[in-house]
Amino acid sequence: MPNIRIKPLTDKHRQWSNELLTEAWGSTEAVSSGWLHHTDKLPGFVTLLNDKPVALVTYNIDGDQCEIVTLNSLEEKQGIGSALVNTVRNEAYSKGCVRLWLITTNDNTYAFSFYQRLGFKVAGYHINAIEKSRELKPSIPYIGMNGIVIRDEIEFEMMIEA
Ligand SMILES: CC(C)(COP(=O)(O)OP(=O)(O)OC[C@H]1O[C@@H](n2cnc3c(N)ncnc32)[C@H](O)[C@@H]1OP(=O)(O)O)[C@@H](O)C(=O)NCCC(=O)NCCS
Repeated sequence: MPNIRIKPLTDKHRQWSNELLTEAWGSTEAVSSGWLHHTDKLPGFVTLLNDKPVALVTYNIDGDQCEIVTLNSLEEKQGIGSALVNTVRNEAYSKGCVRLWLITTNDNTYAFSFYQRLGFKVAGYHINAIEKSRELKPSIPYIGMNGIVIRDEIEFEMMIEA
């Protein structure tokens, strides 16, 4: 029986998380809604599978809004990604947040279904937003997942209720 635990991200797993973020997103910088995040400084949660880190979520709380900045799971289709989203939701609720939101890009069609099935709704479709993001992070590739040109930001949101 695998032992799965979710822990707040601490210095113990920072090196691992920075490597994962760099591998997955090109660097530890992430841009959303015209804002440059330094994900190596953000709070997060790590999933440990038999003590080995296998998934990471980073988030940013601003007032009563909580943004999921990055989410990565290396052990897919086992409920690990969903559990991390739920953990951030609970953390945000405990900190008085009323809204959980995130940005994904138009190439990430899998994320569209993943987040909607978790109860998120589309809150905005920001056409050509990536042009501005590239001013902050020039390394954002032009071609993304599924061979799709990365162009737009899609904002998803979920209201946080008890
Ligand atoms: C998106 C991502 C985080 C999902 O992680 P995950 O650990 O696979 O997430 P879950 O296992 O909770 O859910 C994935 C799917 O597996 C299904 N699932 C969960 N447990 C399952 C099980 N035991 N057996 C079969 N399917 C299962 C879920 O219902 C879900 O289905 P859906 O995609 O049709 O909604 C992961 O695919 C990933 O890292 N992608 C690359 C980075 C990325 O795109 N991040 C999100 C955008 S910021």
